[in-house]
Amino acid sequence: MPRKVNCGIDYDDGYDDDFDDYDYGYDVEENVKEPSLQDTIKRGVWRCSVCTYDNDDTMSSCDICGILRSPSVSNGTYDEKRTAPFKFDVPSPDDLVSNGLHSSAQHSKGKDKHGGIIFSKNLEINPSSGFKASDKSSASMAKGRVEDSDGRSVSNNLCSSGQSSSSLMPKERTDMVEDGSSLTHGGEGYLTSNLKNMTLGAKSGNSKDIKANSRAQYKPEKWMFPEKAEGSLTQLNLAIVGHVDSGKSTLSGRLLHLLGRISQKEMHKYEKESKLQGKGSFAYAWALDESAEERERGVTMTVAVTYLDSKRYHVVVLDSPGHKDFVPNMITGATPADAAILVIDASIGSFEAGMDGTKGQTREHAQLIRSFGVDQIIVAVNKMDAVEYSKDRFDLIKSQLGTFLRSCDFKDSSVTWIPLSAVENQNLVVAPSDVRLSWYHGPYLLDAIDSFQPSSRDFSKPLLMPICDVIKSSQGQVSACGKLEAGAVRSGSKVLVMPSADIATVRSLERDSQTCSIARAGDNVAINLHGIDGNHVIAGGVLCHPDFPVAFARHLELKVLVLDGATPILMGSQLEFYAHHAKEAARVARISLLLDSKTGKVTKKAPRCIVAKQSAVIELVLQESICIEMFSKCKALGRVFLRTLGRTVAVGVVTRIVEELV
Ligand code: GTP
Ligand code: MG
Repeated sequence: MPRKVNCGIDYDDGYDDDFDDYDYGYDVEENVKEPSLQDTIKRGVWRCSVCTYDNDDTMSSCDICGILRSPSVSNGTYDEKRTAPFKFDVPSPDDLVSNGLHSSAQHSKGKDKHGGIIFSKNLEINPSSGFKASDKSSASMAKGRVEDSDGRSVSNNLCSSGQSSSSLMPKERTDMVEDGSSLTHGGEGYLTSNLKNMTLGAKSGNSKDIKANSRAQYKPEKWMFPEKAEGSLTQLNLAIVGHVDSGKSTLSGRLLHLLGRISQKEMHKYEKESKLQGKGSFAYAWALDESAEERERGVTMTVAVTYLDSKRYHVVVLDSPGHKDFVPNMITGATPADAAILVIDASIGSFEAGMDGTKGQTREHAQLIRSFGVDQIIVAVNKMDAVEYSKDRFDLIKSQLGTFLRSCDFKDSSVTWIPLSAVENQNLVVAPSDVRLSWYHGPYLLDAIDSFQPSSRDFSKPLLMPICDVIKSSQGQVSACGKLEAGAVRSGSKVLVMPSADIATVRSLERDSQTCSIARAGDNVAINLHGIDGNHVIAGGVLCHPDFPVAFARHLELKVLVLDGATPILMGSQLEFYAHHAKEAARVARISLLLDSKTGKVTKKAPRCIVAKQSAVIELVLQESICIEMFSKCKALGRVFLRTLGRTVAVGVVTRIVEELV
């Protein structure tokens, strides 16, 4: 039924607004002392920045704690470092599980029977096409086989790149471009204040941002703007997120069934088949979890995309995996969300497990969706049947989780709390019938979905569509799928396919399996292209207006916020980098500035490391170039997530593209 995808950070209004007000120079606090190499080096030894042990000069990592030697001490200039072979963490089998990094198997799926499109999980890479003959693709996110924490073999995403930037792009260097933005800070509410208070003044006085100027000259045509046709529904991309087994897929399946998107016959089939496999309770989830492996394990592994209509919206449902091994898939699949339903399992012990700082995904998902730019959510307190629809239990959950959501910068007024039961169909599309819920007087779920505010769309900007998946037909046709972040396309439009920089023509467009003639910002579509080698269309790539190419780069300046509980980030740290539908291995090349978590002012230049709840300006070098944009130019393409060892350690925005290939 659904199309399955592997698919970025938009901050709150305040953040976005603040962004325009950024300083063009960092405020450096007085008495901030530049670290001198003397602080760290004695003759013949180098001092570990973490445990301060004096290591022999020949050691490349600390003999005591294993931390990599600071590149500024050991590797000389940045350029030398940049050309040094990139080293990705050699993971242990356990790391592979938690990181989701190992794999190669590819598979693609066709159309599903309910109208959704099931996207291919990986790009077929043709060695002769200019791509490296590799099972890795920066964006293709190949699914592969890894062992999960239970020791079972599971599919997962591959994170790495197989594109050869040199063979694809002319090697012309542009002037440095500059930008700024603001993030927030620490403590209870640290995320909020960090994102709001970090003011950035990335600078390069002689910089010239050619693309920004030409973008300003872009003149959209009349057809690119929607006509408010009577009865037409606005599209809402709705992510369903939450801890594993909280009932996300069951809730999504139930809604689809209640709204007629799953027929009675199909539902009977799911019930029968799931019972036969001893998984009767997963009947509704089977509508979304449609791979054999997902059904056998009873766990969603990749984001399922399906559709339903409410009174006001054409809702694109993004049912995300909750298992910690599949957070990368949740990030890449749910990033285009306009709004979200955070599903909570109300059962005793289960809510608590989800809130666990190290093992629970409730907090991580909440932080991530906030970082996607989602500021309006419904908290669906599910499985209320398991707690006798207890008001006390609901109130306790609301109180504990509410405090955390406030710390993530969700305003109370943008959070709707709904007690419900997906299995017993209580409070979903009509008011609850169970008398035990008579204490609840708020909206039911579908009503609350209709209360979301429509997102603003960039109709007047040049086309940008990050490609989340690619469908290739046996007849050689190729379709790029994703959400238009800006601009519009129609049949016959010429588009620039990045990073191959090929021009293709739009043959046709499909939205929700229906052919349509025009797609505009906000729409989720499959764009059938002709005049291009299918191997040059890759997930993680971007469709652009031919005159306004997206940047293609591997050296970026970011403003990041290190999340609560994260391990310290050091110079040389190897991380997984996520932006829109692209993933890439990355190395921290520089920690330029530490910012005050409350004021956003620079408190220290060149700190040795950044720890949980700290904000900083850092430079990252990716293993391979990716399509990326500064946050100021395109929020969806300028939000980033950094992960390591199976955990999201930082969220941030691209503030400068240090070196761009055009
Ligand atoms: P992942 O995608 O793997 O994170 O799981 P999920 O959140 O999609 O949960 P799923 O829908 O697969 O359901 C997990 C289990 O919870 C199934 O056995 C469901 O029957 C059960 N479940 C879902 N909703 C309810 C509910 O309202 N009440 C009760 N009692 N059980 C429920
Ligand atoms: Mg699920």
